[in-house]
Order: sequence, then C-alpha cells, then structure tokens
Amino acid sequence: MKKEIKILAIESSCDETAASIIADDGNSLHILSNIIASQIDIHKQYGGVIPEIAAREHCRNIIPVVNSALKEAGLSGSNATQELQAIAVTTGPGLITSLMVGVETARSLSYAWKLPLISVNHIAGHIYANWLNNQSIQFPCLVMTVSGGHNLLVLMTDHLKYKIVGDTKDDAAGEAFDKAAKILGLGYPGGPAIAKAAQIDEQFKVKLPRPMLHSGDFNFSFSGLKTALLYQVQKDKAAKNHTNAYAEEFEQAVTDIITTKTLQAAKKYKTKTIMLAGGVSANKRLRAFLTAKALGQGLPVIIAPLPYTTDNAAMIASAAIFQYHAGQFTPWHKLKANPNLKLK
Ligand SMILES: Nc1ncnc2c1ncn2[C@@H]1O[C@H](COP(=O)(O)OP(=O)(O)OP(=O)(O)O)[C@@H](O)[C@H]1O
Ligand SMILES: [Mg+2]
Repeated sequence: MKKEIKILAIESSCDETAASIIADDGNSLHILSNIIASQIDIHKQYGGVIPEIAAREHCRNIIPVVNSALKEAGLSGSNATQELQAIAVTTGPGLITSLMVGVETARSLSYAWKLPLISVNHIAGHIYANWLNNQSIQFPCLVMTVSGGHNLLVLMTDHLKYKIVGDTKDDAAGEAFDKAAKILGLGYPGGPAIAKAAQIDEQFKVKLPRPMLHSGDFNFSFSGLKTALLYQVQKDKAAKNHTNAYAEEFEQAVTDIITTKTLQAAKKYKTKTIMLAGGVSANKRLRAFLTAKALGQGLPVIIAPLPYTTDNAAMIASAAIFQYHAGQFTPWHKLKANPNLKLK
C-alpha cells in the first residue's frame, strides 16, 4: 500500500492570504483544511488591489491563517514535522511584495521543520484546482485559464507539461470584467458584479463586438471590447437606466469569445478534455455555455467547484502533490518569489 502524503500549501500572490493541507492516499486527494483571509473588503474602497496594503495585510494574517490550516487538519506545530511530507508555496506570478510574505514564511517553516519545499506557479495552481475532486482527467487536455491577470489557452499532454497555445494581446478577461464594472459603476471585483447585474432589456438592445473571434489563431483581445462599451455608455444619456443590458451583452460577448476560441483549439489539438480554470471560471454563464457547446462536440468539460476557482491554497497543494511525485523540490536557500514567473 502506498504511504499517504500530506502537504501544507501557502498562497499569497495577490490579495488573499491562504493556507491549506491536502492528503494524497494514493487514490484520491483529500482537502483537510482550506483557510482564506480575503482582503476584498479593504481593496473595494479603492476599486482595485493596492500592493502595499495587500503586503501589510498578508504579514498580519499569514501566521494565523497557517495556524488555522494546521489546526483544522488536526496538526499542530509540534507534530507537523512528523505528519507533513512537504511545504508548498506560490512563488509567482503575482505582486512581488505579496508573494514575498508567503515565500519567506514557507522558507522559514521548511528550515525549522526540515521539510522539503515545492515552488508552485500560481497559474499551475488554478489549473490543478480541477484535480481536487476529479482524478480521471484524460490527456491531452486543453485548459482555458481566465483570471484577473491571465488569459491563456494551455495544452497539457501530461501532468505538469504545459504548452501555451493562446494568450491575450492586451487585457485578461477578468481585468476586462473589472474595468467594465467600473465603467458601469458596479463596483469591485467586477466579474461577480457584472454577472449579478446582467439582464436582458427588451426595450434597450446593446450590441458589442467580439474582437479576434475569427483571427485564425487562439489569441484574444479584450481591451477593444471594454473601449466599445465605454464609447456606447458615454454616448448614452440614460446609461444609468441601461446598466443591466450593458452588463448582459458584455458578459455574453466574453462568453462567446472564450467558448469559440476554446472549441476551435480543442478541435485543432484533438484534446480529450476541456478544462476551465482561474477566477473567471466562477462565471455561471461561461460554465454553462462552454459545457453545453463542448458536449455538442462530444467533449467533456471539467470545471473546479466554485470555492476553488478564485485564489485559494488548496489548488496550490493540488499542483504540489503532482510536483512531489515528480520530485520537483527547491532547497530553501534557492527559493525566490518571481512576479513574472512563466508557466513551463
Ligand atoms: N463570477 C465571476 N464572473 C466573472 N469574473 C469573475 C467572477 N468571479 C471572479 N471573477 C474575476 O476573476 C478575477 C479574479 O480571479 P483570480 O483571483 O484568479 O485573479 P488573480 O489571482 O488576481 O489573477 P491571476 O490568477 O491571473 O494572478 C477578477 O478579475 C474577477 O472579476
Ligand atoms: Mg489567481
């Protein structure tokens, strides 16, 4: 029988301080704890994340969050050394001052507890959220990773083997949602705000473009879509009364673009599975639309349960389990935060 392994993972790349412990019994992954201290309410008043405030909040929260994760998993500082096999941490991409808090905490714990360290790419974490409750994903698979900072179509031929086949030329879809929400006065974060407001208005029809839909490649551009929305709203004297219609059309435009490009790429690369990952994968319209269209082509779509779509540490632990089995460790004195870390 295989030995069970347990990993503590830490995530602090943006504005969530998170820690999680997951166990791998050789057959499936078990989330023993998943603690998140969100700073959304603090950054909301500024309409976006303020890096210095984020870093200070991480410093305040990191030890209590790690402590709670250990406690909820039935571990404490004294038995963690015996029960854990490794410590994983997000080393990038993200805000350098935010990343450093998690990285330095993980390095210190690794040094004190003499446990190996695993450096996890935040985007790999978003992708591996899909393995948290589904171990039978077939390769090759195509992962549409849509978040606040990334908009990548990733082809995976095996575990930990990533090939980027599509990227955005400007904004990521999450960023576009956030900017569109600002234009419409809907608040932050924009994705959930737009989704909540979106509603068809039979009296007021809006039409927005679908940039790069037929560009012949798998790249994206969301900046033009946001600008098209801005121009229409500026011209509309009664825009405040049409917020629901603008939100509806904006959400549908993003959904159309992402679904069309993903299906085109899945066809070209003959993938067996499609996955959606990242914060925007919380979007219910996108989840339902992509799933229905892909099923029409006989392709299964896998999307992580809602709590694991936005930033969390369980997804980092999930990627770390596969890196553990692949022997991907980094000595504590070599581990560094890298805000521009690439997925490879
Ligand atoms: N229901 C939703 N519909 C659409 N977008 C959403 C929804 N929920 C969250 N988002 C968007 O997801 C983004 C946050 O996702 P995430 O936390 O993964 O991003 P990030 O960590 O800031 O960026 P990255 O993962 O690229 O480093 C925000 O842009 C937010 O508006
Ligand atoms: Mg993220």
